[in-house]
Amino acid sequence: MTEDTTTRAPRARTSQPRRDGEFQKPRSAGFDARRGPGRAKKARAEAEPFIRRAIPEIDTPFTRMGIDPRVAINLTELGLNEPTPIQAEAIPALVAGRDLLGLAQTGTGKTAAFSLPMLTRLVVKGERAEPFSCKALILAPTRELATQIAQNVEGFARGTGIRSFRVVGGASINVQVDRLSRGVDVLIATPGRLIDLIERKAVRFDQTRYLVLDEADQMLDIGFIHALRRIARLLPRDRQTMLFSATMPKLMEELAESYLTDPVRVAVNPPGKAADKIEQGVHFVNQGDKATLLAEYLSRHPGELAIVFGRTKHGSEKLATLLQKWGHKVAAIHGNKSQGQRERALASFRAGETQVLVATDVAARGLDIPEVAHVYNYDLPNVPENYVHRIGRTARAGRDGRAVAFCAPAEAGELRAIEKAMKAAIPVIGGEPPAGPVPAARPQGRPASATKRPPRRPSRAPRAQQRQG
Ligand SMILES: Nc1ncnc2c1ncn2[C@@H]1O[C@H](COP(=O)(O)OP(=O)(O)OP(=O)(O)O)[C@@H](O)[C@H]1O
Ligand SMILES: [Mg+2]
Repeated sequence: MTEDTTTRAPRARTSQPRRDGEFQKPRSAGFDARRGPGRAKKARAEAEPFIRRAIPEIDTPFTRMGIDPRVAINLTELGLNEPTPIQAEAIPALVAGRDLLGLAQTGTGKTAAFSLPMLTRLVVKGERAEPFSCKALILAPTRELATQIAQNVEGFARGTGIRSFRVVGGASINVQVDRLSRGVDVLIATPGRLIDLIERKAVRFDQTRYLVLDEADQMLDIGFIHALRRIARLLPRDRQTMLFSATMPKLMEELAESYLTDPVRVAVNPPGKAADKIEQGVHFVNQGDKATLLAEYLSRHPGELAIVFGRTKHGSEKLATLLQKWGHKVAAIHGNKSQGQRERALASFRAGETQVLVATDVAARGLDIPEVAHVYNYDLPNVPENYVHRIGRTARAGRDGRAVAFCAPAEAGELRAIEKAMKAAIPVIGGEPPAGPVPAARPQGRPASATKRPPRRPSRAPRAQQRQG
């Protein structure tokens, strides 16, 4: 994935003649909110519809639901022939312009459920985004997920001329400022970097008519709600808002209401349900014996892809080093890695060059790597919903997969919280459940009231203190 997901060739930088013979202005200053982007540019943007492709005469299950043929024609090649249940329910309402809360299990095609109707409406309208603007904004909690969504959108929009671009932390902000100055139709972003770009006046949202919150319950939770409020305030009220997730605790759904206008609620299954084809089990084990047990499990399935979730960055790194020493091909992804290291780790795992990915919750949500056959919860997550997301990295798009949770005596409280959130017990496949009273789950970091305003994130805080984005 390149930094620039636009379908156009990048234009030359400052002082270089453009193809249309004009010279670009220096861009570092950002847009001037008082003067606006200029009448000439506006006129050109309005005069230049972005549709390049003639409307193909095709009739597919997606066109019958209202997806524009120029978008639908890309889907067969991407393996989308029949809509999944969430797509079948959400797409018609979204094509009709309704706000929507979409809840469906992991790996069931929520990305296409929000992207296809949005691209349809953009293609039909056929208006370009003005400089420093975007027509649609998709927010996701992690850089890797934002990148993946951008790749998906790019694939769905191929040949339409729609320009998409993703902005995340860990990449050059100047390149992003420069690209945004030309306007993008679909902007995919992590909230932290987007706030930085807003502070630099690199982007404005008065033309933005579509807002997607992927992993919506996490976006509404304490780590992101402050940034989200700041961003949402800048968007016009007259917009279409789409919230999607596999989980939606009650408190988050209440918060969600303030972002939605007369929404349709689509819940394919009760929210929080694990994907159907995951064979789950819990193995009770002492903390000190977990590494040996994991090595045993891994050696039972040589060559198959497995993600191992640890609780802390440090612990995950240590575990990755140990597994490597024991002869496993391991990559690690967590917040202490540089963006380059994170991308390389994910790329080598996606390519099957490494079979084990040791990760913190940074990889819990949204990532789509179809070949992942096993998920090990080496440490149980402290946000119970993240269990469903973690194990949802396997058994995607109708495949099957296995998920084993290692539960140390001190984690019995977390296990109970997970089972309560899923409203289902996880079968015991090894070890002895601890006797005696269950210890309380360790603090989650989510306050009793997520509506309470958290302190402002200092935009120049040291890296380690910042939420990634
Ligand atoms: N209609 C379809 N037919 C076949 N495969 C599909 C269809 N729609 C999506 N897929 C595939 O299903 C996989 C999962 O899709 P996606 O990542 O959108 O799931 P998700 O519901 O967002 O999961 P998560 O909750 O983990 O984010 C992808 O590989 C995607 O290409
Ligand atoms: Mg998703």
